[in-house]
Amino acid sequence: MTLARDVAGLRAQLAQLRAGGARVGLVPTMGAIHEGHLALVATARAHCDVVVASIFVNPRQFDEAADLLAYPRCEERDAELLAAAGVDILFAPDSEEVYPHGFATTVEVGPLGERFEGAVRGRSHFAGVATIVLKLLHMCSPDVLYLGRKDAQQVAVIRRMVQDLDLPVELVACPTVREADGLARSSRNARLSAAERARAAALYASLRQAQALVQSGETDARALTEAVRERLSREGITPEYCALVCPDELRELPKLEEEALLILAARIGQTRLIDNIALAPAWRSQSAPAEQEALCSA
Ligand code: PAF
Repeated sequence: MTLARDVAGLRAQLAQLRAGGARVGLVPTMGAIHEGHLALVATARAHCDVVVASIFVNPRQFDEAADLLAYPRCEERDAELLAAAGVDILFAPDSEEVYPHGFATTVEVGPLGERFEGAVRGRSHFAGVATIVLKLLHMCSPDVLYLGRKDAQQVAVIRRMVQDLDLPVELVACPTVREADGLARSSRNARLSAAERARAAALYASLRQAQALVQSGETDARALTEAVRERLSREGITPEYCALVCPDELRELPKLEEEALLILAARIGQTRLIDNIALAPAWRSQSAPAEQEALCSA
């Protein structure tokens, strides 16, 4: 694996590889690499000739200065994990390279960026995500961009941007990787105390409970979200939001009629976690499996 610290170096390396017709995959990250990132790399490795991973803790998508400060930074360890997973080029620019003095342009993502995560974290969150992803796409010009489905709204925002701005890239959204008890892999999990970590398993358990209701024929959004809230309340967790939404626009649905997502966010202690599950009405579940996810032993 080679390391590029600046855009010129990244482009020079990629130009040589592209001359041979290589298909390039990009896995953007903010570091603190975990199994979820490594699964994205594995998928990219299987379908691309060249895999680029980026590490950049993007200040423009953090709403709380404390959250940005607390974000784990461990580049050496991350580089080892990415190299072992088969990444060819690690792009790890510093802040000056990405946002030089005078930087002023931001992607406006529209109403999709104002719901749910946007409502809690502020509209600048998805503007910040879209801006950095657009910059990374221009810096690297990959054929394929790999994102994780855990961040369902992020996937929807980036898909919208790729479509709206005619970006010549294929977006592949990969299944959520989970711990043995179902907790979605996230860099934030490391911040949970042992007791909080045990309670956090209730997030996925509550989504699975709603999925079981769907399999027994329930389609009413209120009944599904109430089941989630009830299961979470047993662990003393009150979600910031819990909603049945359509996957593209994240608009709330009163009823499960087509494939949809049940999304939730909750704070466990000081740590904010999000998760979601894909649902399809029972009559469709034979033809369309609701969710294929990777469960890892911890
Ligand atoms: O999902 C993330 O880690 C970040 O939002 C991303 C896509 C790397 C942009 O900073």
